Amino acid sequence: MSMPENVPWWKTAVIYQIYPRSFSDANRDGIGDLQGIIGKLDYLQWLGIRAIWISPIYPSPMADFGYDVSDYTGINPIFGTMADFDRLLNEAHARDLNVLLDFVPNHTSDRHPWFIESKRSKASPKRDWYIWHDGKPDGSAPNNWKSVFGGDAWEWDADTEQYYYHGFLKEQPDLNWRNSAVQEAMYNAMRFWLDKGVDGFRVDVMWHMIKDAQLRDNPPNPDYVESQPTYNQLLPVYSTDQPEVHAIVAEMRKVVDAYGDRVIIGEIYLPIQQLMAYYGPQNDGAHMPFNFLLLNLPWHAPEISAAIDQYEGALPAEGWPNWVLGNHDRPRLTSRIGEHQARVAAVLLLTLRGTPTLYYGDEIGMHDVPIPAEEIRDPQGLNMPDKDLSRDPCRTPMQWSDRPYAGFSEVAPWLRVDKKYARVNVEAQRNNYFSMLSLYRKLIQLRNGEPALNQGTYTPISSTDQLIAYRRDSPHGDSFLIILNLTSRPCRYRQTDLLLKGQVVVATAPELEDTPIEADIYLSGDEGIVVRLEPIGNTS
Ligand code: GLC
Repeated sequence: MSMPENVPWWKTAVIYQIYPRSFSDANRDGIGDLQGIIGKLDYLQWLGIRAIWISPIYPSPMADFGYDVSDYTGINPIFGTMADFDRLLNEAHARDLNVLLDFVPNHTSDRHPWFIESKRSKASPKRDWYIWHDGKPDGSAPNNWKSVFGGDAWEWDADTEQYYYHGFLKEQPDLNWRNSAVQEAMYNAMRFWLDKGVDGFRVDVMWHMIKDAQLRDNPPNPDYVESQPTYNQLLPVYSTDQPEVHAIVAEMRKVVDAYGDRVIIGEIYLPIQQLMAYYGPQNDGAHMPFNFLLLNLPWHAPEISAAIDQYEGALPAEGWPNWVLGNHDRPRLTSRIGEHQARVAAVLLLTLRGTPTLYYGDEIGMHDVPIPAEEIRDPQGLNMPDKDLSRDPCRTPMQWSDRPYAGFSEVAPWLRVDKKYARVNVEAQRNNYFSMLSLYRKLIQLRNGEPALNQGTYTPISSTDQLIAYRRDSPHGDSFLIILNLTSRPCRYRQTDLLLKGQVVVATAPELEDTPIEADIYLSGDEGIVVRLEPIGNTS
């Protein structure tokens, strides 16, 4: 792979998210682990991945499957030991794979020693490490804030007669980031991993970190509908995205920058303009605030192309874009838009300008797996049983082969495996030219080797009800034209002013590869093509 020395690795890398419980189980307990990940690094290298982000692997009572941390500088024995982690880091680096950890600064577990100490007494030296408050005179909660996972966000502690705030589960009390001792403790936790050689962090719920100092009531959401989570009843204007959060993010950035070439990716679900603020006024915020546009939009060409242009247009001067099609909190891509369009989406993800993050299993077209009510494990699903909000369906074991339990484990896994695993698995798809995996690999390899794709400019060319077309150009003169049909009906792309020439290099239908393009380009339904353009003036 040839990259100019001066481009940071995270700009050109394809990132791959591993949900460790569900990736690969080496110690036969039905739960994935670090040894399991180590065993699959060759696969990730073969695929062309340059960095992995691993969802939390710290000690945790697992009330929210690791997003409730009880020790920020340890490894959960379910996943292995610190020695296993060190080995994982070495083995990954030996394969040119960088490692990003999931950092969860907004809240700890209620079993974290800090919270246990804080809860002990109003006079505890750690009382102010969390958000404690008296109730109103009538004994009710300090304000109307709601928990993302359902119900009120305040939990009464009868022993010390105060409420504490939890934006998520009551087992996940929010830290008080206005307290400088909290800040220092958390920066030190980051330094612990950076000292080990970790390449950066995905920062959990970055926009939640600081709340209104006066704890004012959130206003009602006029657009709320019953089917939504109860959290959506209010607009979280005072409980999230406070102006003070940016100073905290800037401090985190300083901590990370002191180590050189590392990266911070922020998990932020906000409208574009608010999202952009997380790059920081001097590009001194998160290197990449996650861009979740493609997770939320209807899969229609006009909306998608408008959103891409809007996002590109809103980026600050030095802000580097990024794109995401799936994660452990959202329905799987193939279940959202169908298997055929998922191939078109793969072309989109890997040819847009900016760092792509791939969710494990999407590269083989894994589906959401229906989980019977009695097997639901996700607290979000269990807390709001009438709303179909469980995230288990997108967290099922990775499908490696047609062996029992899809080769994920030798024993029954913690979540059931997709029934379709005999067809949808890595082994079956690896040597199949027509498979989703082959398409992903070709796209990733092409992207890795082509500066036009991994750092070139993006120019929208056309969009209709059905298709999106854009160019990617490198300063060295290499250019690609990408045309995507976002519908199942055939369509035509007619070249007008400038007659471009070139050959298809990757396509959703591999038989199109090497086909030269004409003035009129016909696309079948669900088709996407990547065309390597001939330099203008080449008449051969
Ligand atoms: C983030 C995580 C999600 C978790 C929540 C609370 O949104 O992605 O899985 O439940 O934070 O930590």
